[in-house]
Amino acid sequence: MQRTLILLKPDCFQRRLLGRIITRFEDKGLNFVALKLLHITPKLAKEHYAEHVEKAWYPTLEAFITGGPVVAGVLEGLEAIAVVREMLGATSGIKAAPGTIRGDFSSSRQMNLVHGSDGEEAAHREIALYFKPEEIVANTPAIATWMRAADE
Ligand code: TYD
Ligand code: MG
Repeated sequence: MQRTLILLKPDCFQRRLLGRIITRFEDKGLNFVALKLLHITPKLAKEHYAEHVEKAWYPTLEAFITGGPVVAGVLEGLEAIAVVREMLGATSGIKAAPGTIRGDFSSSRQMNLVHGSDGEEAAHREIALYFKPEEIVANTPAIATWMRAADE
């Protein structure tokens, strides 16, 4: 089992797409173990996007990501990190394949609706940025026995 951080970004909130995007993750069989609404501060934005802070486009990214409410969540599942990244599609909504979240809903490189951790180290770091340990609610949905075989 793996955990990954997702952010439903301000464009997702403002476009009232939260429910439809959350439904896609639920339909896939991923399991929420944490979920909350928050406003990202410039300080948190710089921590979250530490690898991008020096890029020329970072100031507009910070303005966007701090520009409205976001929903942060932790999803759990088999290979959840890669599964979520595949569901998101390529970074730019212009390039992302149809059928992916960005491919279906975004026509922008920046306003691409959803963030997903890009590896185990990032997932670990990002989950800790947004959630205290006691905010993670371990749970096994009743339907789990019908979502995958016992030995998977
Ligand atoms: P990146 O980590 O490259 O993409 P991903 O979200 O797929 O891991 O970039 C982080 C975010 O920065 C990306 O989701 C959108 C934004 N961004 C821009 O605003 N301009 C750009 O030129 C790029 C590459 C990304
Ligand atoms: Mg990234």
